[in-house]
Parts: sequence; structure tokens; C-alpha cells
Amino acid sequence: MRPKFVAGNWKMYTSLASAKGLAANVAHAFGEDKRVMVAVCPPFPWLTAVAEVLKGTSVLLGGQNCYPEREGAFTGEVSPAMLKDAGCQYVIIGHSERRHGLNEGDEFLNRKAKVALAAGLKVIFCVGELLAEREASKTEAVLDTQLAAGLAGLTTDQMSKVVIAYEPVWAIGTGKVATPDQAQAAHAHIRGKIRGLFGEFTADHVQIQYGGSVKPDNAAGLMSLPDVDGALVGGASLKADQFLAIVNAALG
Ligand code: PGA
Repeated sequence: MRPKFVAGNWKMYTSLASAKGLAANVAHAFGEDKRVMVAVCPPFPWLTAVAEVLKGTSVLLGGQNCYPEREGAFTGEVSPAMLKDAGCQYVIIGHSERRHGLNEGDEFLNRKAKVALAAGLKVIFCVGELLAEREASKTEAVLDTQLAAGLAGLTTDQMSKVVIAYEPVWAIGTGKVATPDQAQAAHAHIRGKIRGLFGEFTADHVQIQYGGSVKPDNAAGLMSLPDVDGALVGGASLKADQFLAIVNAALG
């Protein structure tokens, strides 16, 4: 049985004060429940302050990105080791806003995953097709390439520390959520691809989150699908009550 995993991607939103308040509200209201894992991913400058707020709670902390080197002369970048030191257990890699907005390619994202795992972080690895790719019936091919190239060279042990987030790019921040059929088909395809790459055990255990306009009113429908193991939530993670409603929806 895979526990559900709901993560909030705060993107480039919040102030220091609102980030601390949001984290405190989430941690206080969530408490603890073994059936669902909850994480928040604040902007880099707030990580240590939010880590302090989350100390002793069961809410996990993630970074939104990292640079694929241990350290060095990389002005403005943040290493996985720094995220770990700041209190993160997770890092998001391959978000579409970085793949498409900042031109990050599969090979670069693969390096990030390897360096992050070597630093002791777990990875939320995002994949997803553009609208034009879906309309051209290329969704499965795009997912296959992103998974094969992005996870290339990982051992099964490393894969046990990777969560996949399926985020159709056309659904992110648009209010246009994937239908249950579209989400289940993509998730089942992803699990099948992971089975081919890493075997049955890994495929059965890997958590696959859905992301893209997840809201309190569509979360339960999505997360009750057999291959949807949680959600990566953007906009609705910025309001504690909405995020918590999504966490509750994960409990079924
Ligand atoms: P959204 O973002 O929930 O605002 O669509 C999801 C994401 O980008 O992870």
C-alpha cells in the first residue's frame, strides 16, 4: 500500500512572515496521519525559517530546485547539500516552469537528480506534456523520454527515494485540470514505464503525484484513482484551508 503524498509548491510567492504563518497553520491543522505524507516547498530564502517552524511536526520540507554540483563557483545557485543543511528532506526537480521557462533539458535534470540523491535528499521528479504534444498524441512518448533520460543511471535503491509528479503543462496554473480518465491513463503509463526501467517492486512502490490545478473540489476524485498517489499543489497550497482540504481529500 502506497501512502498518499501531498506537497505544496509555493513557487515565488509568500513573504517571510506569510511563509512562517502558512507553515505553522499547515503543521498545526495536519497533526499526524500515517496514511498521508505532507510537504511544503517554500522559496529558498525562507527554508531555514520554515524548517524552524516545522521542527517536531510531521510536515516535510522541500526545495523547489537545486544545481547539479556539490559546491563551486556557481553564482546564484543552491546545491543539494545546502538544501539538506537547511532542513529539507525533498527537492523538486524538472518542474515545467524550469523545463520550458528556463530551458532545462533531460540530461541536466538527470544530473540534478543524481547529485540530489547523493546528498541524501529525496526527489520529486516532474514530467508532463505540453498541450500541442497531447493534441499530437505524443503524451506517452514525451513521458517515456522524460522518464528514461531523467532517471537514467539511477539504481533501484536510488529510485526508492524518487517520487514522480505527473504535471500536464496545460493544466498548471490554468484551472484546466486533467479529467480522471486522462490522469489515470498517464499515471498507469508512467508506472508501466518505471516497471520496464526498474522492475516490478519499484513500480509497485513508487508514489506518483498528479499536479496541475488541483483544488479542494477536484482533489478527492483525482486521488481516488488507482495510480494517483497524491498531489503536487501550486496555487491552492498558498492558502492553508485549501491545502488542508486537499490533504484531507487524500485520506479518502
Ligand atoms: P497549480 O501548480 O496547482 O497552481 O496548477 C501546480 C504546480 O506547478 O506544481
